Amino acid sequence: MNPTPVSRSGRFAGGPAADVAAFTESISFDWRLWRQDIQGSLAHATMLRKIGVLTRAELGAITRGLNRIGREIAAGKFSWKPELEDVHMNIESELTRRVPAGAKLHTGRSRNDQVALDVRLWLRDEITALLGEIAELQRALVSLGGRHADVVIPGYTHLQRAQPVYLAHHLLAYVEMLGSDGARLRDCQARVNVCPLGSGALAGSTLPLDRKLAARLLGFVDAAGREQLTQNSMDGVSDRDFMIEFAAAAALLAVHLSRLAEDVILWVSAEFNYLKIADAYTTGSSLMPQKKNPDIAELARGKTGRVVGNLMALLTLLKGLPMTYNRDLQEDKERLFDTADTVRATTRLMAAMLRHTSVNRAACARAAGDPALLATDLADYLVRRGTPFRRAHHAVGAVVALAEKRGQRLNELTLAELQSVDKTFGRDALGVFDLSRAMAKRNQPGAPGTKEVAKQLARWRKQLSRD
Ligand code: ARG
Repeated sequence: MNPTPVSRSGRFAGGPAADVAAFTESISFDWRLWRQDIQGSLAHATMLRKIGVLTRAELGAITRGLNRIGREIAAGKFSWKPELEDVHMNIESELTRRVPAGAKLHTGRSRNDQVALDVRLWLRDEITALLGEIAELQRALVSLGGRHADVVIPGYTHLQRAQPVYLAHHLLAYVEMLGSDGARLRDCQARVNVCPLGSGALAGSTLPLDRKLAARLLGFVDAAGREQLTQNSMDGVSDRDFMIEFAAAAALLAVHLSRLAEDVILWVSAEFNYLKIADAYTTGSSLMPQKKNPDIAELARGKTGRVVGNLMALLTLLKGLPMTYNRDLQEDKERLFDTADTVRATTRLMAAMLRHTSVNRAACARAAGDPALLATDLADYLVRRGTPFRRAHHAVGAVVALAEKRGQRLNELTLAELQSVDKTFGRDALGVFDLSRAMAKRNQPGAPGTKEVAKQLARWRKQLSRD
């Protein structure tokens, strides 16, 4: 006979209809919370012992029983029963079957504060792991940029060649974006790190629960060691804002990964040819034998859709909910798991791919050698000689038009030709087109100049060796 869940015991004539059980179960996905569920139960039991609900012997039996169940789950030997709905009731039922004192474990606790606790514990660790992956990707970007510190490429606006930048500068832009992603996730983690245990179903308990003890045991403390407890039992069981914050920070991270992926996809195309991804990190075509496709980057771009979608799903899930816990909230977990899994895997694979990517220095040099990239420098030259910028901009525009008419590159014009446009041009004007001198000049904080980019690379290297 199928086991009847404890939640129906007494009040109900029997177990749920089979299709009801199938529709309402969550064990098929929330089994992933087993470690946190056991961790939470161990802390709750220790607290129940402290307030005299459990004897020492009972606590010992519960602890051993839970640990044994944990080992069986880890070894894949535990049989999950869908009729028992979820991870919480599966573990509790099995414990009680083996250990009579298990029947006391749920004292002063509801699955409502239990599930809120489990997801907070799970997400707290997940964020730490994701922060590690983000730092790895930042290191891969810094390393790629650092190994080719002298490589210059065109910087683009509107995807049109604009001004020269070091390749490292372009890559460091992503390091900055990922740095903000990390800061947002750390900030979110502080709000995840709050203990809801003791909120009960929605209205706490008449028993003298020691919420602070349970929180301490589970590591819900701030940097100063103060216990972090939810301050309203109704909010404690129905709040999923911490999850939405994570989903939002993850969605923005996914958008950043997607933009990086898009740059890589462009740069490995024959048209750009700045980068080459190693064979092991590319895929082939089933039809065209010559193809080598940047599928990791394409999937990174594509997966952004589901991560953004998960954020929308969670916001929509919460939108119309009356206080407090409603079963709708069970729908949060698949979105949460999917977001965490997707951004973690994507971040990791992008880092691995970049560690197996080489730079085509010749193609970069060819592209960066386009003197038109330094048209603005030529205008700055006139500004240094006292010409108002608007006039300088106009003059260099005329120089560009002249070169175009002649079918020449900007740096192939003679001094006489330059002077035919504006008398202010002197003998040294063509020196503007010396790329390495041009790069040396851009040294304001945050600029793509030689010294500044070296400084930024060094700053990030130092920062990332600490993370
Ligand atoms: N499986 C449920 C969830 O994921 C656990 C809480 C169930 N609570 C309840 N009162 N039915 O949300």
